Amino acid sequence: MLEGKRILLIIGGGVAAYKSLDLARRLMERGASVRGVLTPGGQQFITPLSVASLTNNECYTDLFSLKDEAEMGHIRLSREADLVLVSPATADLMAKMANGLANDLASTILLATDKQVMVAPAMNAEMWAHKATQRNLETLRRDGVLMVGPGAGMLACGEVGPGRLAEVPDMVDAVEDFFAGGVRPLSGKKIIVTAGPTQEPIDPVRYIANRSSGKQGFEISGALAELGADVTLVAGPVSQETPVGVNRIDVETALEMNAAVTAALPADAAVCVAAVSDWRMQAGSLGEKLKKSKDGIPELALCENPDILKGLSSLGEGRPVLVVGFAAETEQVIEYATAKRARKGCDIIVANDVSAASGVMGGADNQVHIITDSSVDSWPTMSKKDVAIKLAHTIKDVLAK
Ligand code: C5P
Repeated sequence: MLEGKRILLIIGGGVAAYKSLDLARRLMERGASVRGVLTPGGQQFITPLSVASLTNNECYTDLFSLKDEAEMGHIRLSREADLVLVSPATADLMAKMANGLANDLASTILLATDKQVMVAPAMNAEMWAHKATQRNLETLRRDGVLMVGPGAGMLACGEVGPGRLAEVPDMVDAVEDFFAGGVRPLSGKKIIVTAGPTQEPIDPVRYIANRSSGKQGFEISGALAELGADVTLVAGPVSQETPVGVNRIDVETALEMNAAVTAALPADAAVCVAAVSDWRMQAGSLGEKLKKSKDGIPELALCENPDILKGLSSLGEGRPVLVVGFAAETEQVIEYATAKRARKGCDIIVANDVSAASGVMGGADNQVHIITDSSVDSWPTMSKKDVAIKLAHTIKDVLAK
């Protein structure tokens, strides 16, 4: 699969540096040739000799080495590769990349390269969560850098959380995905995503709504766009930034959301993440504000909103090949979600526990079960971003079939 591909592997200074040796071997087993670059920090963890021995290639370490430059100048090094892979990518290395610094061999190559760059971050969970790191990540994403991981779990520092270097097989998969479909395996695929709550007006100032933040749906739209999909995100009222490359349509009510989704058809896939209000005012919004002194306690006559997910699932001709729904449950999550999948007629239900104890509503993490007609796949707790990336890859795999 990687026959003839040339990978420049930049190894940063983190405890996970040793995993890059295994990574290099696994890439080579699939036919790639790997050339290693070790940062000064990286050399504290593994030696140039081990990198050179395992890759059967010179390992480069020094920007100002006459020998290295005579043999292979850093510009050539950066160009004679099909992919530049940084693993582990430390917070420091990503900060340099995001800001265009070039004060050592690795950062100079990363600034000089005209090839796709993929980074596999690894660091302490607090460093990962720091605003500066998240800002740098956003910059790198906008610059077109591909990310793999990090995962969550026990970190070398003894803390638990996101920041673990992606597993080697996942990194190999990401590299293979890149070469299989270029950077954009979903290019040419149209995908509709709904996200956020809806607001159903009662009168000019009041409305019925819910606590959905829109975060998971926005992350999913961004992850799909990163894989090259043409994404239309129909969003209820939320304060989320539009992900790069996503076509966002803002709506308020369920009727507007339904109309926007219908207008966006046809599509190859639809992912309904929105927490659509089940009911709206039967007679529409009241023209005047209800007055306590005049109207007393109002009787609100409600009617049911259209079920967008069910409607998409039951379209005859013109039904998206893949329809994904979400099931937010507070108890017996898998049982209820399995029944919901059948009731709605969608292909996949992503079920999660939104009980107050889970902290999912409005929180950064999620733990989901991917339910199809024949399987239940329970993913470990991970950030909503990672759920989005993993789900985008699942969608990509289904659409590729
Ligand atoms: O029925 P319930 O609201 O629990 O179903 C949740 C799933 O159905 C989510 O995927 C949600 O986006 C979708 N849904 C919808 N339109 C509705 C209600 C729910 O698309 N009116």
